[in-house]
Amino acid sequence: MPSSLTVADLNPAVLNVQYAVRGELAIKAEDLRNQLELGQQLPFKRVINSNIGNPQQKGLDQPPITFWRQVAALMEYPPLLELVQDKWPSDVLARAKELQEEIGSVGAYTHSKGIPLIRKHVAKFIAERDGYPSDPEDIFLTGGASAGVSLLLNVLIHPHETGILIPIPQYPLYTATLAQFNGVPLPYHLSEPDGWSTSISEIESAVTKAQKEGIKPRALVIINPGNPTGSLLDLPTMEAIVTLCEKHNLVLLADEVYQFNLHQPNTHPFHSFKKAVRKLNSPIQLISFHSISKGVAGECGRRGGYFECTNISEDVRAILYKMVSVGLCPPVSGQIGVDCMIRPPKEGEPSYPQYKQETDVTHAALAHRTKLMAARLNGLPGVSCVDSPGALYLHPKIELPVAAVKAAEQLGKQPDTLYALELLEETGICVVPGSGFGQKDGEYHYRLTCLCPGVEDYVGALESFHRKFLEKYGGL
Ligand SMILES: Cc1ncc(COP(=O)(O)O)c(C=O)c1O
Repeated sequence: MPSSLTVADLNPAVLNVQYAVRGELAIKAEDLRNQLELGQQLPFKRVINSNIGNPQQKGLDQPPITFWRQVAALMEYPPLLELVQDKWPSDVLARAKELQEEIGSVGAYTHSKGIPLIRKHVAKFIAERDGYPSDPEDIFLTGGASAGVSLLLNVLIHPHETGILIPIPQYPLYTATLAQFNGVPLPYHLSEPDGWSTSISEIESAVTKAQKEGIKPRALVIINPGNPTGSLLDLPTMEAIVTLCEKHNLVLLADEVYQFNLHQPNTHPFHSFKKAVRKLNSPIQLISFHSISKGVAGECGRRGGYFECTNISEDVRAILYKMVSVGLCPPVSGQIGVDCMIRPPKEGEPSYPQYKQETDVTHAALAHRTKLMAARLNGLPGVSCVDSPGALYLHPKIELPVAAVKAAEQLGKQPDTLYALELLEETGICVVPGSGFGQKDGEYHYRLTCLCPGVEDYVGALESFHRKFLEKYGGL
C-alpha cells in the first residue's frame, strides 16, 4: 500500500507562499454570503467585496466594454458574422475578420510569445504612448501580468542568493512568487506622508543592507500606479530610479498594470518607465508589465497581458522564449483582449461613441468613489488616507486602541486583521488587512477597492463601525 501524500511531503517553498488578497477575510466573506443566500439574519443585507481588484466579479458588476465583447464573440464563433453583418458596427466586423485571418481558430495553440500581429500592434501602441520606438520581438504576450512576473522572477533568481527589491506595502504576488522560487525579498518602504512616494534613499539603504548580509540585489520592483497605495510616480522620481538602477546594475521590473486607472489625469498623468529609460538614453535593463485585468476593461478572467523587454540581450530573450515555449502559449482569448485594449475604437469610427460613453462612465465612477471614500475616511478619528490619484485602491492608516491590539494578540491575529474581521462581521464590508501587504512595525492599515457601487450607503456603515470599534476597545 503506498503511503498517502501529506503536506509535509510537498515542496517547502510552496508551503511558505502567502497570498492575503484571497486569504482569511475573503474566505469568511464567502461564508457570510452563503449564509445570506440561505436566508440567515445578519447585521447587513449584502457582502461588499472591497478586497479584490476584480471589477467584473458578481456584486461589483463593472460592465464589460461592448466593443471587446463583440470582437470576442465573433472570434469564438465566426458564423455569428452572418447574423450580425447588418447590426453590429463595421469596425467590429473588420477587426474580427482581420484577427480571424491572422489567427484562424481560437482553439489552436499560437506562437509561444503570442500572435505576431498582436505583438506588432502592442509595439505600435507603446511607440505612440512613449514617443520612442518599440520592437515586436521585445514583446511577450502572457496569461495576465502575473504569468510574466512569475517567469521573470523564476529566471532571475538563484535560490537563497538573489535579492529582489520590493516596495512595502506591496501587492503580495511579489512576496508569494519570491517565496516560491526561494528569492530573498529586500523590502524598501514607501513614504506615506508624501502620498506613498518612492524614496531613493530608502532603496539605497535596502541595497546597502543586502550587500552587508551577502545577498546580491538583482532587480528592483516598482508598481506604478501603486497597489495597494494608489500612488503615482512623477517623471523626476522615475529618472532618479533609473539612475539608481544604473548605479547598482539592477534590472527594473516595472509593474504598470494600472496605467489606464488615472483619477486626475490632467494633474497626475502616467509616464512609463520605457519612456524614462529612453529619454535618459539609459542602458538599464527593464521589463515592463501590462494587463487587460485592470483599466476600465477589467477582463481579469480572460488572462491577458504582455511584457516588453528593453535593453535585454538576445541571449536572455532566447531563454525567456524557451521558458514560455514550455507553457506552449498564452490563452488566445487573452491575446485578443490585449489587441482590444491597445487598439480601441478611434474617434470617427462607428464603435467610438459607445466605447467613449462606456469608458467615461467607468472612469468617472472609480474617481468619484475614490474621492468620496478618501474624504470620509479622513474625517474619522485615528484614520488618515492618501487620496489616490491612480489604480483601484485606498490604503488608509488606522490607529488602534491598546486594548484592541491586546485582544488581537490573545487571538493570535494581527491587530488590523482583527479590525477587518469585525468590520466584515458587522457591516459585510470585506477589506484586506495592511499586514497582508507589509507595513512598518506598530502601524496598521487596510486596503479597500473603489470598485463596489453604492459607496454612499456603505461608507456610512464603515464610519459608524469605526466609531463603535474605538468605543468598544476604550478609545485612542
Ligand atoms: C500590481 C499588480 N500586478 C499584477 C497583477 C496581476 O494582474 P493579472 O490579472 O494581469 O495577472 C495585479 C492584480 O491585481 C496587480 O495589482
